[in-house]
Amino acid sequence: MTVAETHALERAPDGRAGPGLLGRLRERQARRDYEASIVAYAEAVRGAFREACTGLSICHYVQVAAGVTIRTPRVGEVRVGPPTSLTVELLPGQEPRDFTAKENGPRLAHTLGAHGLRVEPIAGRWVRLHLLDADPLRDGFGLPPAVVHSGSEAVVLGRTEDGVTLGHAITDPAHLAVQGMNGSGKSVFTYGLLAQLAAAPDVLIAGSDITGLLLGRAWDGTIHRAHQVTGTADIAAHAVLLEDLVAEMDRRLATIPPRQDKIVPSAGCPTVLVPLEEFPGLLRAADGLPRPKRGEGVPVGDRIRAAVLRLLSEGRKAAFRVLMLAQRFEATAVGGGYARDQFALRLSFRVPADSLEMLHGTDARALGQEHANADPGVAYLSGLGRDCQRIRVPYLGEYGEYVDRVQRFGRRAES
Ligand SMILES: Nc1ncnc2c1ncn2[C@@H]1O[C@H](COP(=O)(O)OP(=O)(O)OP(=O)(O)O)[C@@H](O)[C@H]1O
Ligand SMILES: [Mg+2]
Repeated sequence: MTVAETHALERAPDGRAGPGLLGRLRERQARRDYEASIVAYAEAVRGAFREACTGLSICHYVQVAAGVTIRTPRVGEVRVGPPTSLTVELLPGQEPRDFTAKENGPRLAHTLGAHGLRVEPIAGRWVRLHLLDADPLRDGFGLPPAVVHSGSEAVVLGRTEDGVTLGHAITDPAHLAVQGMNGSGKSVFTYGLLAQLAAAPDVLIAGSDITGLLLGRAWDGTIHRAHQVTGTADIAAHAVLLEDLVAEMDRRLATIPPRQDKIVPSAGCPTVLVPLEEFPGLLRAADGLPRPKRGEGVPVGDRIRAAVLRLLSEGRKAAFRVLMLAQRFEATAVGGGYARDQFALRLSFRVPADSLEMLHGTDARALGQEHANADPGVAYLSGLGRDCQRIRVPYLGEYGEYVDRVQRFGRRAES
């Protein structure tokens, strides 16, 4: 064939520019190759899935005349992603969580060449397994400048390893414990949480902060500021604030309407979020004060411990939520083991393995080693009926951004 004839074949039949016969043949071939590669890929995923199930004993062993055969969950459709997903029919007796229980999830994912696995029940006995390519905890995620308009709206807590965004409404009956070593992200997490809540008309942010960064100046001009005590110059003022909160709690408990067992928050009776930044530091400072003489009043440290314990044990019904931050939730550092037991939602940023287990129980032991080196902003979360899991909390930006958002959105007195 001459060069001119080849060119003619490559032109469209009507002579205009565009794919000619050769071009169209190449296109068709490419499409066929692509389709074949998808089929081959899907087959490979099916095969790898069956082998992984066998290796991890997510299968049934069936006795037949010739010996034992292995039945693995049937794979339906394989969808090429990203992320790749496959539908799977559970075997009798299996539950969706069997694919992720214990260490099955990561192992199954790794065998299939993925980083992680998410199981989504679809219909009947079928589930869809999503193979996640990357570690969602590795990349940070920004917190958009959004606020909730009521405490019953969920604020963003973080994103899980399988890429799901977790929310939490402050009206949910839970006190929050946040622990982590220096620089692990406790304060930054709390900046995000408070900034999201600053505008809600039925939320009041009233607490103690010896560092004066989380609360205090940033909140000047907002309605919350009068209910915040900062710094270490006047430690007794922290005790006074906490005792005032207890008095308000008692008033609320005494006025719960008949046939109700808890306060329903409203603008007139808001959910009071009580952040206690560096609480062990506050107790240390209070305990370092000269003790009053016998019969001349109660030591400030004891007053603080008593008030916080009351808020923790009785505050839930009265719409009080304590948010305690500490490097380590040792019983003595946070006002006793009973106080520590009151936290239904627990978050640990980077901590040594023993601290992790102390707050989250033995379930967390397997993760201890890995979590001791977690990046800032990566936390281990447990409580409120959730399985223990690792999350990345949102990052709102530099400190100045926090101050700007509180100033921009923070609720102000009605003029
Ligand atoms: N979610 C996050 N994403 C990315 N970086 C973060 C995140 N959280 C914190 N960091 C980084 O880590 C630094 C320390 O965070 P933060 O001040 O919250 O630590 P901390 O746990 O409160 O420490 P300390 O006990 O010293 O108060 C931040 O200045 C920021 O650079
Ligand atoms: Mg801090």
